[in-house]
Amino acid sequence: MIKPDAVADGNMGAILKMIEEAGFKIIAMKYTRLSAELAGKFYAVHSERPFYGELVEYMSSGPIVAAILEKDNAVADFRTLIGATNPAEAAEGTIRKLYAKSIGENAVHGSDSDENAAIEGNFFFSEFERF
Ligand code: CMP
Repeated sequence: MIKPDAVADGNMGAILKMIEEAGFKIIAMKYTRLSAELAGKFYAVHSERPFYGELVEYMSSGPIVAAILEKDNAVADFRTLIGATNPAEAAEGTIRKLYAKSIGENAVHGSDSDENAAIEGNFFFSEFERF
């Protein structure tokens, strides 16, 4: 996902360019806005965390880009491309180092396992929206 801060700042195109140049194929893509209910559902795994309310409010604050990406070793390679959750700790040249504002408003989300990538892909896309 490209998160609301990155979309609002006009970084959607630059981030998609980095993703394509890193060798990811875009299988599905959608420009949409999550309601608070849907944002809460997407991040339900974090519902006990102290930042959950803030996260839901932020993720429903404006449009996002959701995508399914394909590549060998996609989960690990995408996490390398985006960098650490906290941009202060993200490596030089990563998407979060370049575009994230803070640990909360951190420009992009990447799935943390193949299993969660399948769940999160199914959250946004039907079979007819994948190419
Ligand atoms: P993401 O990789 O999408 O997964 C969970 C999100 O919760 C994370 O990126 C951040 O946007 C947010 N998050 C994680 N830690 C914190 C924190 N300490 N304070 C606020 N938001 C956080």
